[in-house]
Amino acid sequence: MIQDIEKFFLERGILVEERVIKEIEKRGGLVYLDKIQGKLNFQSPVFTFKDLPADNEFSIVKEFHLNGFPGISGSFVDIFQNRFNVLSKKIKSRSLSHHFVSIRKAKISGDNVDTIGLVVDSSVSKKGYKIIEIEDQEDSIKVILGQKFNDLVFHDEVIGVSGRISKDRTAIFAESIVRPELEKRKEIYENGQDVLVISDIHVGSKNFMNDNFLNLIDYVNNSNVSYIIMNGDLVDGIGVYPDQEKDLEIPDIIKQYKRLAELISKINGNIKVILIPGNHDMVYPTEPQNPLPREINELFPPNVISLSNPVWVEIGRRIFLLYHGTSIMDFVESMPGTSLNDSDKVMKEMLRRGHLAPIYGKNLSFIPLKEDYYVIDPVPDVFITGHIHDHSITSYRGILAVNASTFQEQTDYQKMMNFNPKPGIGTLINTSDLSYRLVKF
Ligand SMILES: [Fe+2]
Repeated sequence: MIQDIEKFFLERGILVEERVIKEIEKRGGLVYLDKIQGKLNFQSPVFTFKDLPADNEFSIVKEFHLNGFPGISGSFVDIFQNRFNVLSKKIKSRSLSHHFVSIRKAKISGDNVDTIGLVVDSSVSKKGYKIIEIEDQEDSIKVILGQKFNDLVFHDEVIGVSGRISKDRTAIFAESIVRPELEKRKEIYENGQDVLVISDIHVGSKNFMNDNFLNLIDYVNNSNVSYIIMNGDLVDGIGVYPDQEKDLEIPDIIKQYKRLAELISKINGNIKVILIPGNHDMVYPTEPQNPLPREINELFPPNVISLSNPVWVEIGRRIFLLYHGTSIMDFVESMPGTSLNDSDKVMKEMLRRGHLAPIYGKNLSFIPLKEDYYVIDPVPDVFITGHIHDHSITSYRGILAVNASTFQEQTDYQKMMNFNPKPGIGTLINTSDLSYRLVKF
């Protein structure tokens, strides 16, 4: 069967991704291909998952895939320009009461101005006023925030500024700051899917909660769950932090994935398992991250869909944004008074800013790309993170945000790093009305 599908594409001079073959096989093989032939695009030399028509329930909306190993040096100009372009459009579209113009125009127009820029600098004046500098493609200007502004402004975020320009036209006295503040209209669909969300499984760690994970398998096999999302840190990996060896039950990363594959094989084959990598997985540490490598994906049964970090997928007409969450650490460090158990607050700050990681140059390193994959576009219905082993659910302007629970008990290293895990909880979301409940395993 697999060879027939491969032959179908080779006869047309096209290479095809292995997981596409598996997906076609699942949907009925050559019979399915015959049925959809008219809808297929045979123009590009490689047929990818995105070229496959969406089935009724599941499709990939936006996925990252880089060929080869990423360079970490290079120009980040394109990323910031793309960030500015997409987010300034979002800012303009959400506020009809403002008439945003470029910084250059703002400097020569009336006394009251609305403009948009990327925050490139910040300082505090002798009188205690916060002063920031914003820039667009042509120009830059100082923005003086009055003492009533207690909201945090991060370096490299894109903001709209509304205010009065100074007499010498070199600064704006801000009256308000406008952010993208993403929003999703509430809708209810018929025939929802049950989606179980977990994260940070850490198979291979001595602290992996094997019995609780077996409880999860038993639960889903006797339920209506159609999808399980595993949001990164699938295994514990090796050499991720100092002296990790003493915390490992399986000190070989391939064997850790083999153990994970054994566990996933116990899940009913009609339940789709969606995986993304995290910082403990076998991918490079710069972000965004490719899906797990082919030799690892081959260990998994056909119901596994292995995707990038971050990734946007559609399940039951709802867009899910899956991001492992490395940038959460940067937010917590930049938000006084927050801890690693404030994942709900951090996710809201991301959705307000329309960006998963606006703060550049701290814990998280990026690949210099043409596009900023961390701009939250399209706007999801459900936003999922993990990484800090917290568990929280919150709602922001119609978007459901979940920091998914881990299956690893606290390690000594985590204790030292102030990680206070809330493990062993599944978040079960129904796509019809986005209602959810928690299942303790
Ligand atoms: Fe983790």
